[in-house]
Amino acid sequence: MRDCLYLFLFMLHFSTGCIVSNEQQTIVITGYTGASVVLPCSCADPQSTVGTFTWHFQQGNQWIQVFQDEKYSGRLVLFDELSPTNLSLLISDLRTNDQGYYRCMTETNIFTDVVLNVKGCDLAENRRTVAVTGYSGESVVLPCSCTELLAKPEHIQWKYFKEHQYKEIYPNKQIENYKNRVKMFNPNTPGNLSLHISALTTEDQGDYQCVVSSQQVLTVRLRVEEKTQVYTISLSTHQLSHQTQELPPPRQSHHTPQCKSKAWFAFYYSVNFTMFFFSSCEHDVNYPVCFSTDVLILVAVFSVVLLLAFLALSSRYGEDEVPCSDVKTTSTPAHAQNDP
Ligand SMILES: *[C@@H]1O[C@H](CO)[C@@H](O)[C@H](O)[C@H]1NC(C)=O
Ligand SMILES: *[C@@H]1O[C@H](CO)[C@@H](O)[C@H](O)[C@H]1NC(C)=O
Ligand SMILES: *[C@@H]1O[C@H](CO)[C@@H](O)[C@H](O)[C@H]1NC(C)=O
Repeated sequence: MRDCLYLFLFMLHFSTGCIVSNEQQTIVITGYTGASVVLPCSCADPQSTVGTFTWHFQQGNQWIQVFQDEKYSGRLVLFDELSPTNLSLLISDLRTNDQGYYRCMTETNIFTDVVLNVKGCDLAENRRTVAVTGYSGESVVLPCSCTELLAKPEHIQWKYFKEHQYKEIYPNKQIENYKNRVKMFNPNTPGNLSLHISALTTEDQGDYQCVVSSQQVLTVRLRVEEKTQVYTISLSTHQLSHQTQELPPPRQSHHTPQCKSKAWFAFYYSVNFTMFFFSSCEHDVNYPVCFSTDVLILVAVFSVVLLLAFLALSSRYGEDEVPCSDVKTTSTPAHAQNDP
């Protein structure tokens, strides 16, 4: 009997309605433009019954009901139908002007306040000019990003400077030539505004702008090079191989010219190394050597001179140390497997 009384008192106590948790307190929540945010509010006691409740936002000195304001239309979701004591409010597609004070209030006139901070897009390298090198026939990424990678700018535009003015190439293509060649990626990092351009031609060289607002602009200076470096080197190895084969035969008559096998090996692998060195430019355009053709040519010439010196030395001293036993595989190291 006594237990029953307690139970009765217990039920009486908690049917008084919803008393929000964090009563009279202020919670700070951070959101990002373009994303969603949940403003938390719930009854302290999950057994309580909720009559009516409202969400307001502060404008000047007034509290205005969010569901009665145009600017939130289509962007608000409540969860109370699923879970009656969960009074949280979800706001989607956040804008910077959603920032401010919000109040969750039940019919008991008890409320909890939420301060919503909305972080927008500030360009990481605002008002700078960034240099990028691409190669004709390949793709390039023009870098541009918000300092906050979760923030999606309310506006984004890529432009290309052509015929004395900047013309939009993304999202609208004012220049025919860019249709089907430009895209942006990363749904998970909406603040990454980098533009991917495929099938580069030298005509794409020039200045591009990543525009988020009139105050937020980044310039990318694209340089498009013909992919000649690697060809130049393979050409010179080719010529060199002819030259060395045409050298007078070595003094030892029982050895054919193929006896330079070890030198050839070294030669081939040095060239291979050099080519590997250059091919890194494809993967990382910021690789210091990739910026300047002058440096590239210098390095190429330098390595060719080194190789010549090496060849000369090995043909002079290499005879005793290098018995020419492995003639077949070494004479044509590059194409050994392709030969029928
Ligand atoms: C209320 O529902 C939202 C959305 O499902 C959820 O994120 C939140 O954690 C819930 N709050 C409580 C107190 O259960
Ligand atoms: C943006 O995306 C591109 C392409 O995936 C990537 O190369 C770049 O590192 C990203 N930038 C940032 C700041 O994450
Ligand atoms: C160099 O050799 C490695 C393996 O020996 C090969 O994978 C690579 O493609 C070669 N690089 C060039 C540029 O020939």
